Amino acid sequence: MIVLKSDFEIDKMRSAGRLAAETLAMIEKHIRPGISTLELNDICHDFTVSRGAVCAPLNYRGYPKSICTSVNDVVCHGIPNSKQVLKDGDIINVDVTPILDGYHGDASKTFFVGSNVSTAARELVKVTEECLEIGISQIRVGARIGDIGYAIQEHAEKHGYSVVRDFVGHGIGKVFHEDPQVPHYGEAGKGVRIEPGMTFTVEPMINAGDYRCKILKDKWTAVTVDRSLSAQFEHTIAIRSNGAVEILTLP
Ligand code: MF3
Ligand code: CO
Ligand code: CO
Repeated sequence: MIVLKSDFEIDKMRSAGRLAAETLAMIEKHIRPGISTLELNDICHDFTVSRGAVCAPLNYRGYPKSICTSVNDVVCHGIPNSKQVLKDGDIINVDVTPILDGYHGDASKTFFVGSNVSTAARELVKVTEECLEIGISQIRVGARIGDIGYAIQEHAEKHGYSVVRDFVGHGIGKVFHEDPQVPHYGEAGKGVRIEPGMTFTVEPMINAGDYRCKILKDKWTAVTVDRSLSAQFEHTIAIRSNGAVEILTLP
């Protein structure tokens, strides 16, 4: 069941989304060789709380930290850890989801660590951000959810990359993950019709090699089966009552 939101509710989601974007802009300044992913977690947590919000991931289905930090071959849901220290040349996705006044805002970006990131990693990150933009550009009233994934898959595979299947975008609002599912692969013209009041994420995870993932023993961390690099970008989107498509997770 898809929960349609009023413009008043979308205004609240915009506030949560703006906070998510501001958190990513804030944490970018801290990303450098030598910082641990737990330090990044704690800085984001304190920032979120100082703005009157709470971190949705913390205790969500048993998740132990406030953000996800996914380094190199980690596809998503990397758990911040004091022993995981960033190195020059790493790439790291930081995924944040504040809840402000009862509504979620979900956004992530992949950042470069230091100045020695390989050309291959830079290219993967660039194409992944393009995948997010191209996916969002398909969104309009009357289009189908499948149009988004079709466009993303075409762009990723054109560059020799693969699209993760095990994790998809999702409806979002008072609830973190709700209908509809938003795959980043698939067929144009298929799936749910996009309508005013819908709010959902687009969050392509793109791998340099095999699209398949495996989950580590911590039950959360998803890595590529072939240990190839993976990148991700995420925005939360709303369709206003007048049909306007709005990216909620902008500063
Ligand atoms: N923010 C992630 C998403 O984009 C979900 C993280 S769930 C957690 O949907 F429990 F791992 F935090
Ligand atoms: Co999400
Ligand atoms: Co997210």
